Amino acid sequence: MTLKSYTGLSAASYDLWFGDEGFEDVEFFRDAIRDGGEPALEVACGTGRLLVPFAREGLDVEGLDLSAEMLGICRRKAEEAGVPVTLHRAAMEEFALDRQFRTIFVPFGSFMLLDDLDKARRALSCFRAHLEVGGRVLIPLHLPWLRDVGVEPATPGEWRLRRVATRPEDDAVVRCFENTTFDFERQVQDVKLRFEVVLAGEVIDVEENEQRLRWYTQEEFADLLGEVGFSDVTVLESYTWNPAEADSPRFTTAAS
Ligand SMILES: C[S@@+](CC[C@H](N)C(=O)[O-])C[C@H]1O[C@@H](n2cnc3c(N)ncnc32)[C@H](O)[C@@H]1O
Repeated sequence: MTLKSYTGLSAASYDLWFGDEGFEDVEFFRDAIRDGGEPALEVACGTGRLLVPFAREGLDVEGLDLSAEMLGICRRKAEEAGVPVTLHRAAMEEFALDRQFRTIFVPFGSFMLLDDLDKARRALSCFRAHLEVGGRVLIPLHLPWLRDVGVEPATPGEWRLRRVATRPEDDAVVRCFENTTFDFERQVQDVKLRFEVVLAGEVIDVEENEQRLRWYTQEEFADLLGEVGFSDVTVLESYTWNPAEADSPRFTTAAS
């Protein structure tokens, strides 16, 4: 299994846009873990946006990710914060750890990076095998095309500037462009990403990579969980403990 993204500039610039603790999922997962949800495993933990602060607060949370570069950044941040963290480099659809967990969570829609149903089933089976009795998985999902169809309509295939930030170490400007297409039949979104680093008005580095996201309706995902043996499935509204509205495009599935 190789990664087409979350390497090189994509990994190195991740924290420029997503590194702080200001996202609305932080409280949700913190409460879930604190409230009898330890030990926890963050699947696709990346650079430790959640893992490092949670570990700093003393929560028993381990991380798993496929990208050596994302894990390297996470490890460095944990060292700088002076907290020990246990990180596993593995694919979420095929891992075997010698510990079971009370909470397994996959933040930021990262489960959708599994681009077909077979991988999705294998990942859910892995999660189930690593859950303590009474433990639960928490998997937020969304309909990725809504932003492009409704909020920011785009011509399919158009390159659009999505993010800009200044790199603190050298004041270079890092730009991320996306070129997105959708296949509504297969429920996949293909995103080409282009990263550019501009220093003193000159482009000094460029990198392109790609991602495919597979999306689910609430019912489809609940059925998938049922298929692999989860029996108690609840669909929550976004990052709250309230039941999701039937047509909500952002929901978190909790299952035991
Ligand atoms: C959007 S980032 C999320 C990082 C972090 N959880 C957060 O919320 O900021 C997605 C992460 O998924 C990881 N990833 C992608 N495919 C994976 C797979 N098959 N198994 C494990 N991790 C994977 C990437 O390396 C990347 O770190």
